[in-house]
Amino acid sequence: MNNRPKLDKSRIKDVSFGCNVRVIKPSNIYGCSIGNNTFVGPFVEIQKGVVIGENCKIQSHSFICELVNIGDDVFIGHGVMFINDLFSQGFPANGNKDFWLETKIENKVSVGSNATILPVRICSNVVIGAGAVVTKDINEPGVYVGNPAKKIREL
Ligand SMILES: CC(C)(COP(=O)(O)OP(=O)(O)OC[C@H]1O[C@@H](n2cnc3c(N)ncnc32)[C@H](O)[C@@H]1OP(=O)(O)O)[C@@H](O)C(=O)NCCC(=O)NCCS
Repeated sequence: MNNRPKLDKSRIKDVSFGCNVRVIKPSNIYGCSIGNNTFVGPFVEIQKGVVIGENCKIQSHSFICELVNIGDDVFIGHGVMFINDLFSQGFPANGNKDFWLETKIENKVSVGSNATILPVRICSNVVIGAGAVVTKDINEPGVYVGNPAKKIREL
């Protein structure tokens, strides 16, 4: 047996870019909006409908899925994973958006490398530590670490 897989190239397609945006290839970015002066490192996937504001940095190897909205002056470290499907039915929703949930990151939020962000709201002026798993809304500024992420101090 020597079947050939269907090969799709990563692409940058149907993206609304602001001024002075820099994207390092290869990245797979489609159907989203990226604001002025934002940087996107290599090996990043940004899915359709995502909105990213101005002066943000999205570092390499991060995954930003549908239904994520990111404000201005946000730093997303390396390998940060966003989630929109909680497997609420006991298995993946397999594209059934009735079971997907939204994430909102407000302004001046810094997310450390390898953090995982479940569908939540994170208010402005928050730091998320490296490797944290954010499972609940964060409604007050501060530094949050761990799994599940908890506040360790004020900013
Ligand atoms: C969360 C963070 C900002 C905290 O920094 P800080 O306020 O200086 O905290 P400290 O180093 O004083 O640590 C305070 C406590 O939190 C713990 N802690 C710190 N960072 C942690 C993390 N990411 N996950 C779990 N615990 C952490 C420390 O072990 C310490 O615990 P202790 O009080 O039991 O000894 C920092 O550790 C961090 O994770 N930064 C992310 C950096 C990053 O990912 N950059 C990406 C680009 S390179």
